[in-house]
Amino acid sequence: MKDDGRGETPRTLTVTLDGQPVAAAPGETVLTVARRAGVDIPTLCHDDRLAPTGACRMCLVESSDSRRMVPACRHPVSDGLAVQTDTPDVQRHRRALLALYLADQPGAPTPGSDLERLARRYGVEPGVPAVEAPRAGRPDDANRFIAFRADRCILCARCTRYCDAVAGVAAITLANRGAHTTIATAGDAGLLDTSCELCGGCVDTCPAGALVERSAEAAIDAGAPLEVVRSTCNYCGVGCQIDLHVDRVANAVVRVTSPPPGTTTNDGNLCVKGRFAFGFIDHPDRLTAPLVRGADGALHATDWDTALGRAAELLTGVSARYGPDALGFVSSSRCTNEENYLVQKLARAGFGTNNVHQCAAT
Ligand code: SF4
Ligand code: SF4
Ligand code: FES
Repeated sequence: MKDDGRGETPRTLTVTLDGQPVAAAPGETVLTVARRAGVDIPTLCHDDRLAPTGACRMCLVESSDSRRMVPACRHPVSDGLAVQTDTPDVQRHRRALLALYLADQPGAPTPGSDLERLARRYGVEPGVPAVEAPRAGRPDDANRFIAFRADRCILCARCTRYCDAVAGVAAITLANRGAHTTIATAGDAGLLDTSCELCGGCVDTCPAGALVERSAEAAIDAGAPLEVVRSTCNYCGVGCQIDLHVDRVANAVVRVTSPPPGTTTNDGNLCVKGRFAFGFIDHPDRLTAPLVRGADGALHATDWDTALGRAAELLTGVSARYGPDALGFVSSSRCTNEENYLVQKLARAGFGTNNVHQCAAT
């Protein structure tokens, strides 16, 4: 272990995971230590960004300090602890738990959700008779962006914890009791009538497909293969990385998600524009050719050579007549660094003026 900066070396614990000794630090959970050691423990309610709650019981393991299985996501390690993550009893527990979660779903689990992936991995299919779970759900929500399917919710509270702890908004909460427990807003208002900022983080973290983007709902439920294309959001200069989910059959982007937390600058998060405002991609009003103003005063579509030739002619004309400082160059934080560099180079080296500005400078 490294020096902690105060000249003290933090204590190292030794934990045994499935018979293998591994080093751990005081305060770490069994799940953290296991993941670092490459031992896979399945989870549903866990999200690294959120304080663990131990709600779903998917991560139960056998631990030498307890007669009963313990949730790896919130069980702290101690020196000499011996943990078994994959015994027949643990496997039996995982299959039984998944069967109960599936019994609580209206049909097959949502394709592509964590719940569906785990059910496939453990070979669990709907079979346990459906339980009566009369979840009230919210009344019809008119918002165009997020669908909440109360009957698919496994009550892991990842969405509400994300909204509280990461978005800092607290627009949604767990409401009611027992079989009626559900996710709700204050006064059962529609999301657009709450403090919700439509960041979509609740959708992103939901492991059951109970919260989904309306734009992708049909494709997700049909299990349509969506091709994921990594790109950079162009709404501002932060450079958030985005994954465009493309339905190749419909030839359309149906949703936008963030790469996983800890992998890119946006750390698993997006704002409302980055996540939901992708309609411009195939909007009929989108410019697809450069426009040049004609003698009639109207803009006309043309090709790039013609447009660039006209711009060069007018810029050099103004410079020759009134001097280079009669020109001003304005760039945008929606352009790349390279494009912004080229604009200032065109102004300074090409025309000899320092009249160059970019919106991020103000
Ligand atoms: S979209 Fe964001 S702000 Fe709105 S409920 Fe979900 S997490 Fe909260
Ligand atoms: S909506 Fe999804 S994230 Fe929220 S509690 Fe239900 S299953 Fe969990
Ligand atoms: S992941 Fe540990 S209890 Fe849900």
